[in-house]
Amino acid sequence: MSRTEKRPYNLLVAATGSVAALKIPELTRSLLALNKENQGYYFEVHLIVTEHAKHFFDSEELPPNVVVYDDSTEWQAWKNRGDPVVHIELGKWADLMVIAPLDANTLAKMAQGICDNLLTCTTRAWDMKKPLLLCPAMNTRMWEHPITSKHIATLKEWGHIEVPPISKTLMCGDKGMGAMAEVETIVKKIKSIFDEKA
Ligand SMILES: Cc1cc2nc3c(=O)[nH]c(=O)nc-3n(C[C@H](O)[C@H](O)[C@H](O)COP(=O)(O)O)c2cc1C
Repeated sequence: MSRTEKRPYNLLVAATGSVAALKIPELTRSLLALNKENQGYYFEVHLIVTEHAKHFFDSEELPPNVVVYDDSTEWQAWKNRGDPVVHIELGKWADLMVIAPLDANTLAKMAQGICDNLLTCTTRAWDMKKPLLLCPAMNTRMWEHPITSKHIATLKEWGHIEVPPISKTLMCGDKGMGAMAEVETIVKKIKSIFDEKA
């Protein structure tokens, strides 16, 4: 099946300031690798990064066709009335958003409706009919704090989908619950959503 016969789907990946953002190059590569499979659709991938997410990977490690957006993109695009508002345009563009990793800070902001950067403005203006996947990642001590389950429950009540964290030796050396789900698990979940549509 040639690419022109396939249906395009737009994936909006978002990364926050968790050490698991190290895996963003691998995640975006794995998502685009699905385009080589003989399925009836292919993915375009755009990536939103928070300022803290940028500490954990080099944008040169990303596949060349991934378009990256940060807070400065939003304000460079808007100068005058009539100019595009990036967080609205990205929400319209996307068929699915996945926040991987979702750190404790952005989780808390989302649960409270706070929207103070490109990522949280995009989620705050999200069309609730579209899937939004959450891949939490944090140290076990943060994960076990009682506020975490309250925030996750709030987001799930709104219809967002959790890809739960796993227990392993965390990048800080501690062992326990809170590591981001494996890239393979996240990719499989996304694929299953589009396979169902097809
Ligand atoms: C080296 C390092 C690793 C961090 N890893 C995590 C993490 O895995 N999960 C988390 O919730 N916060 C983590 N943090 C804290 C966040 O980076 C911090 O809360 C930051 O304000 C998040 O901003 P953002 O949500 O806008 O990306 C880490 C901080 C540092 C310095």
